[in-house]
Amino acid sequence: MKNFINLKDIPVKDLRKILDDAKKRKNKRKKLSTLDVDKDQPLKGKLLIQMYEKQSSRTRLSFHIAINQLGAGSINVKANELHLGKGGESLADTAKILSTYGDGFMLRTDNDKKIEDFSKNLSIPIINLLSPSSHPCQVLSDVFTVEEIKKKSISKLNITWIGDSNNVLNSLIATSVKFKFKLNIGCPKKYRPPKFVMDWVKKNKRKVNIYNDPKKAVRNADVIFTDKVVSLNDRVNKVKKIKDFKNYKINSSLIKYAKKDVIFLHCLPRGNEVSENIFLGNKSKVWHQALNRVHVQKSILLYCFGKLR
Ligand code: CP
Ligand code: NVA
Repeated sequence: MKNFINLKDIPVKDLRKILDDAKKRKNKRKKLSTLDVDKDQPLKGKLLIQMYEKQSSRTRLSFHIAINQLGAGSINVKANELHLGKGGESLADTAKILSTYGDGFMLRTDNDKKIEDFSKNLSIPIINLLSPSSHPCQVLSDVFTVEEIKKKSISKLNITWIGDSNNVLNSLIATSVKFKFKLNIGCPKKYRPPKFVMDWVKKNKRKVNIYNDPKKAVRNADVIFTDKVVSLNDRVNKVKKIKDFKNYKINSSLIKYAKKDVIFLHCLPRGNEVSENIFLGNKSKVWHQALNRVHVQKSILLYCFGKLR
């Protein structure tokens, strides 16, 4: 049994195995419908318990489909309907109960420590569905999308992130270290990645390039990523933060500095960090990106259950 909490803690050979498995499984499903179960039903009989303490459209739906395609079942529990928290039940007791009824637990929360505490008290795998410090399922799936579209290993590509230093970027930085790809970041000085993230990069003998000038960050990019300027867990002056990022919008004049065949990715939901014509234009692969989450998350589940082929 394995947890899937932070990409930085997972060996690259395991991440690569997940991506390879997702590719094989995706190929085999070409003629199947959304809820048709994969022939080998690898998780038949298993119950996955999902808990979202904050909003989600894509993660919730893509995991629902992924779980069904593997032959397993899922239930969504709402934090405010459990005894955990307001009902006074300890996290340790709730974790014991989840481990008694379920085979896996998946949590989206505003609290990184809660994931850590659950992981210590569960005897079933836990998957991080997004926390303030990381969004591992999203970003591993994005690596898959990049390699699928570019038909190349990500290590041969120039990846650019324009925008806030948030959970998604932390996970992207982790993958840049693991898969050894070039990562340029474009953001205002005040919003650079935190010191502990950069120290980790250094400790792993890698570097990421940080630019205040978004044009420099975009130069020669094969892929440009961005995300909302204000994340769900951001307790900031939103108006001010959005204003601080006004020169970092992905639009036609900025994207010109990238390679001609650059692709644009965004995990969604979006704000006004990207212009409508880029978001809906032919360089944008955001719907493809969202759909691939189903395929990669299936292989993440199989990794957790020690069932990767
Ligand atoms: N990208 C992503 O995780 O979307 P949701 O917040 O809708 O799950
Ligand atoms: N950075 C965003 C990602 C949403 C999927 C957030 O945490 O709100």
